[in-house]
Amino acid sequence: MPEQKFYLTTPIYYVNARPHIGHAYSTIAADVIARRHRLLGDDTFFLTGTDEHGQKVERSAATAGIPPQQFADEVSKSFKDLWDRMGITYDDYIRTTEPRHTEAVQKLFQHLLDRDKIYLSTYTGQYSIGEEMFVDGPPGTIGPDGKPTETVTEENYFFRLSEYQLPLIDLIESDDPEKRLLIQPESSRNEVLSFLRGNVAEATERGEILEVSASGKAYVPGALKDLSISRTSFKWGIPVPGNEKHVIYVWLDALANYMTAIGYGSDDPVQQEKFARYWPADLHLVGKEITRFHCVYWPAFLLAAEIPTPKSVVANGWLLFDDSKMSKSKGNVVRTETILDAFGTEVYAKQFPESTKKEQDLFGADVLRYFLLREIPFGHDGSFSFDAMITRYNADLANGYGNLVSRTLAMIERYCDGTIPSHSKWSSEQIVLIDPNDGSHKFFLVKGPQLAQASLAVQNFYEDAFKKYRFALPLDAELAKASKAGITDSAMFLVGQVDSFITSNAPWKLAKGATSGSATELNNVLYSAAASISVITALLYPILPYATANVWAQLGLGDIEVAAKNGELKNLEWGGLKPGTKLGTLAPIFPRADKGLAQIMVDIENPNAPQKSEAPKPSRFIDEQTTHTSPVPVDPTHPGAAPRTLVSTGVPGLSVAGSHAISTERTGTPSHLEAPASGPFANSAALSTIPDTPQIAVDDFVKIDLRVAQIVVAERIPKADKLLRLEVDLGYERRQILSGIAEWYTPEELVGRKIVVIANLAPRKMRGLESHGMLLAASHGEDGKPVLATFGEEIALGSRLR
Ligand code: MSP
Repeated sequence: MPEQKFYLTTPIYYVNARPHIGHAYSTIAADVIARRHRLLGDDTFFLTGTDEHGQKVERSAATAGIPPQQFADEVSKSFKDLWDRMGITYDDYIRTTEPRHTEAVQKLFQHLLDRDKIYLSTYTGQYSIGEEMFVDGPPGTIGPDGKPTETVTEENYFFRLSEYQLPLIDLIESDDPEKRLLIQPESSRNEVLSFLRGNVAEATERGEILEVSASGKAYVPGALKDLSISRTSFKWGIPVPGNEKHVIYVWLDALANYMTAIGYGSDDPVQQEKFARYWPADLHLVGKEITRFHCVYWPAFLLAAEIPTPKSVVANGWLLFDDSKMSKSKGNVVRTETILDAFGTEVYAKQFPESTKKEQDLFGADVLRYFLLREIPFGHDGSFSFDAMITRYNADLANGYGNLVSRTLAMIERYCDGTIPSHSKWSSEQIVLIDPNDGSHKFFLVKGPQLAQASLAVQNFYEDAFKKYRFALPLDAELAKASKAGITDSAMFLVGQVDSFITSNAPWKLAKGATSGSATELNNVLYSAAASISVITALLYPILPYATANVWAQLGLGDIEVAAKNGELKNLEWGGLKPGTKLGTLAPIFPRADKGLAQIMVDIENPNAPQKSEAPKPSRFIDEQTTHTSPVPVDPTHPGAAPRTLVSTGVPGLSVAGSHAISTERTGTPSHLEAPASGPFANSAALSTIPDTPQIAVDDFVKIDLRVAQIVVAERIPKADKLLRLEVDLGYERRQILSGIAEWYTPEELVGRKIVVIANLAPRKMRGLESHGMLLAASHGEDGKPVLATFGEEIALGSRLR
């Protein structure tokens, strides 16, 4: 058994509402962390489950007209089924209505009673039903759930929380990593500490005598009051041992799940051993609104019971929809099933009609996992929108990582017989990075000094970023600052670097064998790209378990789960990818998603709403360099989104022309540029040679809708030597264009390129296929070689050129 254990938990979810993506958020984060720890070799235990007692559940069940247990059974199952559909790798699923839990909670209660940490008294106060807690204030006070409180007088058992004010402050402020309770983010830690310290400013004003904790900071003694921990006003809970008209406070009941699931209170030696092995928890992942329960009440109960306290509590922010927290009571929830179904059937199954429902679900789950972790800096709130999810998916996964993999492996298939090439001779530009600690070669790439540095930087800080739960942060493109990036954005940074590495080394040219060293160089370039992909894939595995499993298999490396288990994914040293490895069967990893998918998801969520045909609402998310907090709209058709770009070259003999298709019938060879039947670019090839082109008014120019697009598919057309069939992504739509550039460009070198498209050309048919739009290219040299117009800077797809 490995030395190191890692025990992590999600909050257990209330069964009064069905799961939505707000719930999935914590579970996904926990699953990513669990997978990472497992691949590092830690003996990892990941717990999730449902919180099934309390007045809220009792009332929801009554409304539904069924017994609370039946109600809880149904909703708990819907959570569990969802986690199973998503491939969540929990090790245990605890339900607070299970006997193993209820019996152990009674033991804990009794233990606290025996130690005189609990006593019986009466209490009248304002009770928030929604939050299951007494709150300060007069009758009718608005509770934390936004609803008026109810006046409740009860004979209650009280927990001596007041005794733990200083011990808790010291626990949180301790410098000793072995002893302290680490709370992240800092804002949550501060909130908990100021609650524990009491209102120091007011107490000072009143002239009260303050005390000082070990850290030297003042606190108001007595600010922490004893806590009522039983109820008599409802029955749906665990009875207090020996006084059954009381049920145990739902938070004491719920928090104890973290121990009861791993054997606390059990008489079974196997369970006892499990508890001894895994307790205390290394990480409780919680939503930010429940940090107080986890950082004040929970450690206080444990201190009172003389049980070790958890090592860390990390709070995630909220998913917002229409700017407010997604919640059942507000009716603004998005269900995870919608995303699994829509991406699974509309994107994955369209590409792979033979795929199973399970595969489609896992694919959809990957999309959601990536989106949530990439888009929202962990610990902050973030808005959710379907548009943003599709944009992010297409940009980072379909056009980014997926395209890089397909492009590279297709070239290895084509030029190297589908076998990872050797890298026998390195060019003089090779970079070897040697680990100063042990002299090993960490990672290196030919002709890619920048890429090599990027790879090293990404690997170096990756571990650190993971420890800090920094899944996403805005990435500064400068390498020097790469260490400030998060996990997802940095992996995508590396994708971009490898992509440009390929483009600048042009393996398709090397494959033509112009010089004697071309073949070796080709192998070196393709090996380096494939090696980089294996590193990126290992890094992305915890976030994209399904997609990376496919990439791993296509690389010829077998089962990624096995590799994770064997510790192969943490060994990213050079040489990990063995030359001679036979590639697996190649297939697209991330088929493109249509913008129309947003409306499909809206319709799934609102089956009774009238069908809308208008364009999806602009989202608050923008491109991959920006966080969700930016107010800039993503909608590329939005006027503010498009930077101004000049079209005309002004260079004699090098004019800008549309490259649509060759029509040998109409213009005859060798002209490669064919004008559409009509329109401003008619006879554009000819125009290039006439210096005194007639002038046009601005009004004429603005009629031409020039847009930034990206080539996502490029392929030859049988029996049409000069034509390529392209699929281009305009950001707002994907379409097909036939282009007469096959003599000058290979399909491989086109995929992924950002180009300019004349978007408002009327579609026309050629060779039985529709071509909708034209590519902009300069006609160069005597033979009129088309050189595609492109961009030197990052530019959002769909941006308009004006
Ligand atoms: N049952 C308690 C937790 C007990 S843990 C011992 C509870 N349940 S809950 O179902 O209301 O919430 C469970 C978790 O889901 C919380 O961490 C909460 O923050 C999270 N989320 C619920 N809605 C959410 C969003 N809209 N966004 C992000 N997380 C949210 O609290």
